[in-house]
Formats: sequence, structure tokens, C-alpha cells
Amino acid sequence: MNRRAPLFVGNWKMNKNASQTRSFIEAFLPLAEKISARVDIAIAPPFTALAAAAAALAASSRVALAAQTMSEYGEGAYTGEIAASMLAEFQVSYVILGHSERRLYQHESDLAIGAKVRAALAAGMKPILAVGESLAVREEGNAVAHVLAQLEGALGELSDDRAAQVVIAYEPIWAIGTGKNCDRDQAQEIAHAIRGSRGAFAEIPILYGGSMKPENASAYLQMPDIDGGLVGGASLDPASFAALITGAVAA
Ligand code: 13P
Repeated sequence: MNRRAPLFVGNWKMNKNASQTRSFIEAFLPLAEKISARVDIAIAPPFTALAAAAAALAASSRVALAAQTMSEYGEGAYTGEIAASMLAEFQVSYVILGHSERRLYQHESDLAIGAKVRAALAAGMKPILAVGESLAVREEGNAVAHVLAQLEGALGELSDDRAAQVVIAYEPIWAIGTGKNCDRDQAQEIAHAIRGSRGAFAEIPILYGGSMKPENASAYLQMPDIDGGLVGGASLDPASFAALITGAVAA
């Protein structure tokens, strides 16, 4: 395992209401308390469950809160949007930005994602910038170039100081929710290219995401440039998420 602190983030997507969130945390916290303190853990419930999650997590500092997206704008006339300052009220430490589902269904551009990254950093939150290629792009042999272009598009204007505070999640689109996890050498190749693309990325956490499960997580964590996971389906069950993290960091 490499020297950077591992980080695991459960991206619940559009799953769990407030009471389901409370039940998850009640079951998950005792399991998380047993995991080595050098591992950072966060869960990203939907906005409507953030208040319940913040209250349920208040007694412990073991599990941090993440949001799944946010607006690039400050408070104002943006119907349906959530500002960074509103997330801060619930002790949200991380915010996932540029997830492929938002790029696809909400048509988020690299430019807008970059503005969100800057707004998150200005509000004191850690952005988790998600990047990744489609199957067609991978088959054309353009995966590395595609991912680096996404990074440049979103972070090109960011100072090195700020860029060093970002978490990057490599999530190949074809591996998300499909059960077809990416070969760990392919994931490492991309993580290595990301790390080498900018001096500011030398020590940032780089996560893998895409059908990460308790059975395959440790394989990724053994790779030199992969520091953790952005976990969808396997983070919805407390025992499965805890087993995934424990197995990954034990290797
Ligand atoms: P799955 O773990 O369900 O494949 O989802 C990955 C993901 O998109 C996390 O952001």
C-alpha cells in the first residue's frame, strides 16, 4: 500500500430517504469505528437526507459527509439548485463534482464543473472530481487523452495550490453499475497518467470507481497510484461498505 491515507466515499446516488439514512448510519458507525483511523471514510446521501445524516453522525468524527453535486453559483435566483454555503450548514466536507451521470443527464460541461470545483474550494470543501471515458473512447485507444482533457477542461484555470487540494476519481463509464470492473492495471495506467500530468497532483488522493466490491477492492489499493474508492452499489449496505474498506486496506 502506498503512503497516502486511503479514502473511501460511498456515493448513494438517488437512493435512501432520511429514515433509511439514519438506519444505515446506526448500523455502519460501529463497523467504521473498527477500521484503522488512517483511513478516511465519507458517505454521500441525497440532499434531502443530509440533515438526518449530519445529526446521526454528530456523535462521532469517524465518518464524514459528502454531497453528490452543488451549484457553481452563490445563493440567488437559481431554482432547484443548492449553494456551497447551504452544504456547509450540514458539515459537508466533500462534494462529488462532474460525475458521469451528471455529465450525461444534466449535460454538465467541463467549464461548469470547473466553476463548481472553484466554488467548493472557496467554501472550504474538498471537491472529488470524477472523470472517465466511455467504452467507445477506450476501444479507440483514447482513454488517457480523454481523461487528461477532462482534467484540463475543469482544472486548467486552478492555481497549483488549489489543484493540490482536489481529490480525483477515475470512473470508467463502462464499469459503473455494470459489474464489469476495470482491470486494475488499466485503472493504474490512468491513475498514473493523472498523477504525472501536473506537479500539484503528486500527493492528492486518486480514487477508482466502477463496480468496486468487497471482492475486488484490495486489488486496486495495491496499485501505487490508487488511494481509495468512489463506491456506488456496494456502499448502500453498511456491512458491504465496511467489508469493502476493511478488505481493501488489510491487503
Ligand atoms: P457502482 O459502484 O455502483 O458501479 O457505481 C460507481 C459510481 O458511479 C460511484 O460514483
